[in-house]
Amino acid sequence: MDDFTGRLTRDGIRIHNPDDFAGMHRAGALAAEILDRVAPMVEPGATTGAIDAQIEAWVKEAGATSATIGYRGYQHASCISVNHVVCHGIPGEKKLKNGDILNIDVTVIVDGWFGDTSRMYVAGTIGRKAERLVQVTHDALFKGIEAVKPGNTFGDIGHAIQSYVEAQRMSVVRDFCGHGLGQVFHAPPNVVHYGRPGKGPVLEEGMFFTIEPMVNLGRPETKVLADDWTAVTRDKSLSAQFEHSIGVTADGFEIFTLSPAGKFHPTWA
Ligand code: MF3
Ligand code: CO
Ligand code: CO
Repeated sequence: MDDFTGRLTRDGIRIHNPDDFAGMHRAGALAAEILDRVAPMVEPGATTGAIDAQIEAWVKEAGATSATIGYRGYQHASCISVNHVVCHGIPGEKKLKNGDILNIDVTVIVDGWFGDTSRMYVAGTIGRKAERLVQVTHDALFKGIEAVKPGNTFGDIGHAIQSYVEAQRMSVVRDFCGHGLGQVFHAPPNVVHYGRPGKGPVLEEGMFFTIEPMVNLGRPETKVLADDWTAVTRDKSLSAQFEHSIGVTADGFEIFTLSPAGKFHPTWA
């Protein structure tokens, strides 16, 4: 036994109770609202450190806790990953330039529940290849989400994402994955963004997890820089990512991290 609600499957995946959806909804809504509010700050000349400081202030103002500050020694309320940074970019003094694309990833804890979401932003005017990458990555996330319903498998999710991305002649990062979450940040299963139909654990009502595909314009390989966090594409090609926290319902899914302002996609910002 542990202190958490629900039960575990044989694969160690937690099945949450119907009441738990409300907690996830509150946490997810706050994370998404913070990503909405940050949009006007993203412009050439802004530093990623200033954006992160504002995010940290908003988390506190809401009476919530940042899940990333103190997580394995990480010291910031967000990860901000610019251009060829795949994920886990550390906010700092570097200024955004016209044409940069960036992912901002925020995880908050509200009444013990974790809301984890990220989306792409653009600084100024971006190039056509960058725009296509952002669009394909966004659409790949939704291909994955549409595969979420009881009876489907995690392999179905990965396959939906991988087959879509590769048909666009882009690549899916394999070195990082989505994850179960709920009253913990990272729990089983690893939600990989590639796979084969029918493989992997079967989805059941009450499972909570993220889907967060990272897509590269070039090759899929990554490396982690000397700071032990920043993951970049080995070939320096542009990379994009979108992330939602999802719950499996009786007939499909609930997205906990929907944008209250409808600003998940950057061209709508
Ligand atoms: N939010 C990230 C995820 O999607 C994890 C960030 S951990 C950090 O799982 F320490 F780098 F912030
Ligand atoms: Co995240
Ligand atoms: Co995540």
